[in-house]
Amino acid sequence: MPKAYIYSGFGGPEVESLADLPRPVPGPGELLVAVRAAGVNPVDWKRRAGFRPLGAPPTELPAVFGGEIAGVVERLGPDVAGFAVGDAVFGNTVGGGYAEYALLPAQLTAHKPASLSWADAATLPIAAATAYDGVLQLDLPPGATLLVTGAGGGVGVAAVQIAVSRGIHVVGTASAAKEAFVTSLGARHVAYGPGAVDRIRAVAPQGVDAVYDLVGGVALKEAAELVADRTKLISGGDRGTVAELGGFPVARQRTAAVLDALAELVTDGVLNPFVTATFPLERAGAALRAVEEGHARGKVVIEIPPRPALS
Ligand SMILES: NC(=O)c1ccc[n+]([C@@H]2O[C@H](COP(=O)([O-])OP(=O)(O)OC[C@H]3O[C@@H](n4cnc5c(N)ncnc54)[C@H](OP(=O)(O)O)[C@@H]3O)[C@@H](O)[C@H]2O)c1
Repeated sequence: MPKAYIYSGFGGPEVESLADLPRPVPGPGELLVAVRAAGVNPVDWKRRAGFRPLGAPPTELPAVFGGEIAGVVERLGPDVAGFAVGDAVFGNTVGGGYAEYALLPAQLTAHKPASLSWADAATLPIAAATAYDGVLQLDLPPGATLLVTGAGGGVGVAAVQIAVSRGIHVVGTASAAKEAFVTSLGARHVAYGPGAVDRIRAVAPQGVDAVYDLVGGVALKEAAELVADRTKLISGGDRGTVAELGGFPVARQRTAAVLDALAELVTDGVLNPFVTATFPLERAGAALRAVEEGHARGKVVIEIPPRPALS
């Protein structure tokens, strides 16, 4: 039976295991995909810990980790148009993605250009798309100044590059160890921690026009002091605090058109998702720990070797 990395209860890493699960059967409008790469995101371990994203149905256990993949179409469910067996695709999964086989809703799935790697494609549906949606939501003109907190993580690296490509001046907070990395993305790096607000003011003496928060909590509260117009204060991960502060959660579009736009940005050399660590499916737990520790650099991806097509 195909392998999948699952959680069989809500809790810590002790509820995780690599399991043999029947191959999923595509329902109406769905594609069965042989997974070649799966992005690892904070929401994966948060769901295992019992968090339910707004609007998501209750998690049925055991559940397969993951939500963004790239792979090869193996079967078409009923009522699918625009895809054929053998197509290279990427998108947001139905029912998990750290697995040899996963399901994608065809309407929200994009074709993967040949020049886009499996690993890079697998980072676009959640991390890069969240970055893209947030930058568009802020709707800043060229020359505006944007503060991105958590600039060195999966969403942050994409948000910085997308904003810079639009002529926006970006200040990015990250650990001191990520200074060279964040600077290489085109942002002014500011180390987080005590005094961060003063350091941000020093590099942006004219103030910041918007904040895209990817850290939440205290970092978000401090960043909010810097932006008067709260329609320009958004958070990717802390809905509660951003609402208290008069700002907004990032509004996700979740369309195939956004995935196509992101693929073009990568193939045009505008966006590098910075896949900095890859793991085989057998080491999915280690991949998840690399993100759960909270200091990821760019993206962590699980890679699965090619297998013979299903007969
Ligand atoms: N709404 C959505 O659809 C959506 C989608 C994707 C992600 N999210 C959320 O957005 C947040 C970021 O996601 P991600 O994938 O980018 O996470 P990630 O890859 O784990 O990156 C988080 C980054 O924050 C840095 N960091 C930690 N503490 C910090 C602080 N106080 N100030 C500044 N940086 C700090 C970390 O490294 P250093 O400490 O080394 O700098 C790390 O690079 C998460 O809460 C996630 O759940 C939401």
